[in-house]
Amino acid sequence: MNYLIGIDLGTSATKTVLFDENGEVIESASKEYPMYTPHNGWAEQRPEDWRDAAIETIAAVVKKSGVNAEDIKGLGISGQMHGLVMLDEDCNVIRPSIIWCDQRTAKECDEITEKVGKERLIEITANPALTGFTASKILWVRNNEPENYARCRHILLPKDYVRYILTGEFATEVSDASGMQLLDVPNRCWSDEVLEKLDIDKSMLAKVYESPEITGYITPEMAQLTGLSTKTCVVGGAGDNAAAAVGTGVVKDGKAFTTIGTSGVVFAHTSNISIDPRGRVHTFCCAVPGAWHIMGVTQAAGHSLKWFRDNFCQDYIAEAEKQGCDPYDLINADIDNVPVGSNKIIYLPYLNGERTPHLDPDCRGVFFGLSSMHTKADTLRAVMEGVSYSLKDCNDILIEMGTKVDAMMACGGGGKSPIWRQMLADMYDCNVMTVSATEGPALGVAILAGVGAGIYDSVEAACDKMIHTDKECAPIPENTKKYNEYHKIYKALYDSLKDQYKALAAID
Ligand code: XUL
Repeated sequence: MNYLIGIDLGTSATKTVLFDENGEVIESASKEYPMYTPHNGWAEQRPEDWRDAAIETIAAVVKKSGVNAEDIKGLGISGQMHGLVMLDEDCNVIRPSIIWCDQRTAKECDEITEKVGKERLIEITANPALTGFTASKILWVRNNEPENYARCRHILLPKDYVRYILTGEFATEVSDASGMQLLDVPNRCWSDEVLEKLDIDKSMLAKVYESPEITGYITPEMAQLTGLSTKTCVVGGAGDNAAAAVGTGVVKDGKAFTTIGTSGVVFAHTSNISIDPRGRVHTFCCAVPGAWHIMGVTQAAGHSLKWFRDNFCQDYIAEAEKQGCDPYDLINADIDNVPVGSNKIIYLPYLNGERTPHLDPDCRGVFFGLSSMHTKADTLRAVMEGVSYSLKDCNDILIEMGTKVDAMMACGGGGKSPIWRQMLADMYDCNVMTVSATEGPALGVAILAGVGAGIYDSVEAACDKMIHTDKECAPIPENTKKYNEYHKIYKALYDSLKDQYKALAAID
């Protein structure tokens, strides 16, 4: 039997999973690490923590499984996108990585827009200048830490730093590189024009591959530390959402997924590139060679419910502890008794600003329509509905751009809730399904590794064989009608509040 390894380098932990060639989980291990917030709006992590977590978890799964190292044919890495890793000429890490959710680079985004031109930037990189993306982080280091910038010889993304550690190769692949704002996304190569205009030396960037291509092999030193063989190939891998798409079988036109994790994403596969000229959704290369995806992002999706639970639901937490269950199970049971529309409360989930459709770092959360009749269960349902209205905003833009969605998969922590899945089905007015495999991104990159190692003919063929749908829910027409009425008000609320958000942010 052949085996494959998928590594998912997340924001809270790295998870490594060993699969057999049929996609069955043989062993898995994960290791957490901290995120540092040295200033309001900053977010950093230590690349050395990612390195240690990868080595430790690979060694753990190889050892626990007892599988012969030579039978582990390939390894793929998926991970948080956009983070900036800088190495000096001895390949040492220069400073902590500035990661995807860091918001310090508003000035550098203006600089990028001015130097490249707003329309031209969207034409080449398929996205407007965004604080989360890597280019503005590179410029921030150059503007604020010139001595660090002067020492920099290599620029890598988080998962590509781990690849360098395992293989000694400086390589990346198209899906993750799309989030750097330096890639010519339609042509799947570095953009000389953007690099020249931003005065970034191309020799600092890694070689770009397609996601299933072999980028290198495990070095003898790493083979010794992890128990892997030097014959194990390491493929390009993918950014976390592109990897989750492969892990849920979203690899053909008409297929899409919604994930409700800390943030929420609505992701649709497309074999023809399509770019929103207003930049409200991202267009990235996907892990299927020659194809792309469009995705909208809700900043605070699962985070909205977690924020509400942690601050206002001590009663649910205590009761869950007594009953030995998850507080979310009790919350779900209670809100099932609240009617569609949460007795006329509308929640805007903008706790951390919003990406799609507003691209507004200043907007904030709102409960609208509160009355003395309302209970905590009403507000909890409103939170889940508000997040779903925001995901509907993302889905509406994908439809407006001509994306046809026949099958919407639901994943992430929130995708496990049948109530949340029904809300999505009702609001999108389409069937929403889950897949039986639950390892999403790790399975996705293991499949890519299997393609690279020659075990599967193509990403699509591997998904046909290995990914199976599980639960399915259909829209309920009367709910769809009700939600449409509420969604109109939800949208109007942002328009009415836009100026007040700016005024609120401007108060010292
Ligand atoms: C994608 C994005 C997140 C990160 C962290 O644009 O910012 O999905 O990759 O998970």
